[in-house]
Amino acid sequence: MEKLWIAVFIPLLLATGTQQANNATEVYSWASLDYDWPNASMKADYEKSGKFVVNNNIIVGIKLYHDEVYVTAPRWYSGVPSTLNRIIMKGGKPVLQPYPSWEMHEVGQCSVLQYVQSMEIDPNTGFMWIIDNGRTNILDKTPQNLCPPKLIVYDMVGKKEVRRFVFPSDVAGPTSCFLNDIVLDYVDGCVSYVYITDTLDVKLYVYDVSKNEAYFFAHPTMWTEPPGSGFAINGIAISADFSYVYYSPVDGLGLFQIPTSVLRNKNANFGQHVRRVGDRPTRGDGLTYGQHNLYNGLLDESGVQRWLVSHDAEQTGFDKVVIKTQEAVVRDDVKMQWVDTFAWDQRGNLWFTANDLKRFFNGSMDFTGAHGPNIYVWKVFVNESSYLAKAVGSPAPSQCPVDKAVNHQEVASHICLFTLLVCLFISILEPM
Ligand SMILES: *[C@@H]1O[C@H](CO)[C@@H](O)[C@H](O)[C@H]1NC(C)=O
Ligand SMILES: *[C@@H]1O[C@H](CO)[C@@H](O)[C@H](O)[C@H]1NC(C)=O
Ligand SMILES: *[C@@H]1O[C@H](CO)[C@@H](O)[C@H](O)[C@H]1NC(C)=O
Ligand SMILES: *[C@@H]1O[C@H](CO)[C@@H](O)[C@H](O)[C@H]1NC(C)=O
Repeated sequence: MEKLWIAVFIPLLLATGTQQANNATEVYSWASLDYDWPNASMKADYEKSGKFVVNNNIIVGIKLYHDEVYVTAPRWYSGVPSTLNRIIMKGGKPVLQPYPSWEMHEVGQCSVLQYVQSMEIDPNTGFMWIIDNGRTNILDKTPQNLCPPKLIVYDMVGKKEVRRFVFPSDVAGPTSCFLNDIVLDYVDGCVSYVYITDTLDVKLYVYDVSKNEAYFFAHPTMWTEPPGSGFAINGIAISADFSYVYYSPVDGLGLFQIPTSVLRNKNANFGQHVRRVGDRPTRGDGLTYGQHNLYNGLLDESGVQRWLVSHDAEQTGFDKVVIKTQEAVVRDDVKMQWVDTFAWDQRGNLWFTANDLKRFFNGSMDFTGAHGPNIYVWKVFVNESSYLAKAVGSPAPSQCPVDKAVNHQEVASHICLFTLLVCLFISILEPM
């Protein structure tokens, strides 16, 4: 009887092909990354010319759309062939397929993507909001500051760009910026503001979608704790009612709250309204908000933690809420080293990347696979959905600010045409 049970159960376990740890599912893992090359000679060319240096490739950002997984490969050092990718299976192995195309990843060509750390995908519109640093090799001795930073909104369904905003140099420093993470702020059923953290210039950018302009706030709560070396403001999350933004530095325990009513007003007094809501158990990288809880990755206890914000706000209201009730979601000392960025699917799962950046940065990562995988994509069922899941009311607005053209090229070509017509008209009127 026992033997029969084992005979049935063991193959069943193996057949699932995925591994469980604390109820989390290991969806993908890699010792080293590879890409979806059109052919072997292109890969060989890239390797020979230094455009692909395998040990400089790691995964950070992650988002999902219609069950497809999109990830970023940061251009911190040279040799990262494509910075924004979709995960596909090729020869039984997960590889990175440049998104939306190989052509969009040419280093030094400012019209295409240079270095994307993060993006957000709006499940309501299928628009991907991509932050591109413009700079590459930014953690190397000689960063390449070839292009200005920009925000691109890409329609994943219509396969076309719907908005492009190049940051002016007095807002985002083109030789010093590190646009790290992004959240979307809905007003009246439309994405109206975008908030972006800058980990090196230590700022919080606001992009006003209808005005097509950006500004920033800077404050000591965005610095490392204690101030000095390490990584500053990075993780950012927004509550599902779009009332509060939360952020924290990587190197520091503090979690801070700022009302969106402050961020939406470029002349607001940030320092008067920002509030420390408490400490995370350890330093951490990414943050995300579901419908009621705030999730954060732990760098020194290897796993994911959850703060029950709605629960703790029952007594105090959200404007005075402090961290009281925290719990572990998942922990794994081997396979969840440096939980980086979070994503949501539409089945109640929280997804995240773990990339062991301590070893990546100190040069002790073993890319041969002899010590197992280094980079993981995990999912864990938490029975919540993204902060964006219920952002659009009913009926949905027919047009949003992002859909309205602010296409300067179009305006310019209209002026050209108008001038041409005026000249033609004058020349017709003017007798010979
Ligand atoms: C795993 O799932 C079981 C059953 O759903 C639950 O009782 C248990 O608390 C979960 N463990 C963790 C670590 O979340
Ligand atoms: C490999 O693919 C690249 C990019 O599509 C193409 O330019 C090149 O001609 C291909 N080389 C071979 C040998 O097929
Ligand atoms: C690199 O970091 C890992 C993880 O913290 C540590 O175990 C290892 O000793 C470090 N190696 C070096 C060479 O500093
Ligand atoms: C998920 O939460 C809902 C309530 O929001 C509950 O009705 C449902 O049973 C939960 N599902 C699981 C699988 O825990």
